[in-house]
Amino acid sequence: MTDKKNDPTEASTESTSKLWGGRFSEATDKFVQRFTASVQFDKRLYQYDIDGSIAHAKMLGKVQVLTEDEVEQIIAGLEAIRLDIQEDRFAWSIELEDVHMNIEAALTARIGAVGKKLHTGRSRNDQVATDIRLFVRHEIDQIAGLLTRLQQALIALASREADTIMPGFTHLQTAQPVSFGHHMLAWNEMLERDYGRLMDCRKRANQSPLGAAALAGTTYPIDRDYTAELLGFAKPTVNSLDSVSDRDFAIELAAFGSLLMTHLSRFSEELVLWTSAQFEFIDLPDRFCTGSSIMPQKKNPDVPELIRGKVGRVNGHLVSLLTLMKSQPLAYNKDNQEDKEPLFDLIDTVKDCLFAYAEMMPAIQCKKDNMRAATRRGFATATDLADYLVKKGLPFRDAHEVVGKAVAFAIESGKELSELELSELQTFSDIITSDVFEVLTLEGSLQARNHLGGTAPQQVRAAAERAQAELQKR
Ligand code: ARG
Repeated sequence: MTDKKNDPTEASTESTSKLWGGRFSEATDKFVQRFTASVQFDKRLYQYDIDGSIAHAKMLGKVQVLTEDEVEQIIAGLEAIRLDIQEDRFAWSIELEDVHMNIEAALTARIGAVGKKLHTGRSRNDQVATDIRLFVRHEIDQIAGLLTRLQQALIALASREADTIMPGFTHLQTAQPVSFGHHMLAWNEMLERDYGRLMDCRKRANQSPLGAAALAGTTYPIDRDYTAELLGFAKPTVNSLDSVSDRDFAIELAAFGSLLMTHLSRFSEELVLWTSAQFEFIDLPDRFCTGSSIMPQKKNPDVPELIRGKVGRVNGHLVSLLTLMKSQPLAYNKDNQEDKEPLFDLIDTVKDCLFAYAEMMPAIQCKKDNMRAATRRGFATATDLADYLVKKGLPFRDAHEVVGKAVAFAIESGKELSELELSELQTFSDIITSDVFEVLTLEGSLQARNHLGGTAPQQVRAAAERAQAELQKR
């Protein structure tokens, strides 16, 4: 069966009336109509399109290009259309190509000839640039809220688990004991940087391109400061050519999204490891997991796995947007219509993943005994023993050698370092005395790293407080 709508051979030349149809003597090819239309996806921008149009109309009133009465009619018409769309009684038409022309045509149908005056001194080029910037700014604020919620959850978890000891890894080999809270705060640092990048992107997105018109500006005495102010933009953009062609803010948001997703993917990798039978460090509640249709014993960490997988599509969108822009001459080109679907999907994906994490993190239960046992198994306090010898006068390289031999002996005798007899330890160095056992405990090891950025529980608690105070400033 051929799907007629999607079959290019179904192209015909039916006549349609276009808002730009004046200079055309032949109707648009049906296939071309479908191929060039964007309303299927850009209708998502309707709120911003209407807000932008209202600001534009008010400005035209202010500079007396439109009368007060005309402005009022236009605003009332646009608000009625907004309601129609919200309540799902608006008939979107692919023949009207995009969200802008659908709304403009509906306005004229509703209020008559005055509707045709709305587009005075404006082009779809500055209109769409305005819409996307308003949309992106709104979504940035949503994302920022979710990011903050997740950070709050991580910081709370860090305080709760400041004394919980787990093996810290390098090369995924047990390295030194760390506080689980310290690990959570490491995640928080990544997100703190993401937040900074997001806010940085917001600054550049939050400028008004309205008034750039098609590319060169307009012959009407427009007031760009006024429309910028009405739309809550920090200021107008300063070059009309750049205004209609710039999509840097979309790329910056995608780059933010890529790096954020990279972080969430790394967290996910750890959650997947930690919930496995081989680690058993944490428990994810059942509501975040799913089962297997064949293996009755399985409880799979699907949510973290899916988030780890979704970084692929977000990276794809970043590359799409970069590639979309790379060869475009100034100013606006139809290519730009391709910016929307990647942008929409990356925003939806990022928001879903942040939401999932914000819900999941407070529900994590630490299996403290397992973490502790794993830390002990891995000779995690070997560095502490070396530091102990150094403090007693041995050069570090010699201490390293001594401890290496002691570890080899412990492996051979199937014991932990802390389980060796004092006499056994003394065969490796006679400066070892009974106080050595203090540094071989896991608590002692954490406690000893008591400085800014270290893993001592009181440092973790202080760091959590500082991180919380940072969030309060937002
Ligand atoms: N749908 C178009 C887009 O998304 C709107 C701008 C079209 N402008 C034009 N001159 N064809 O970019």
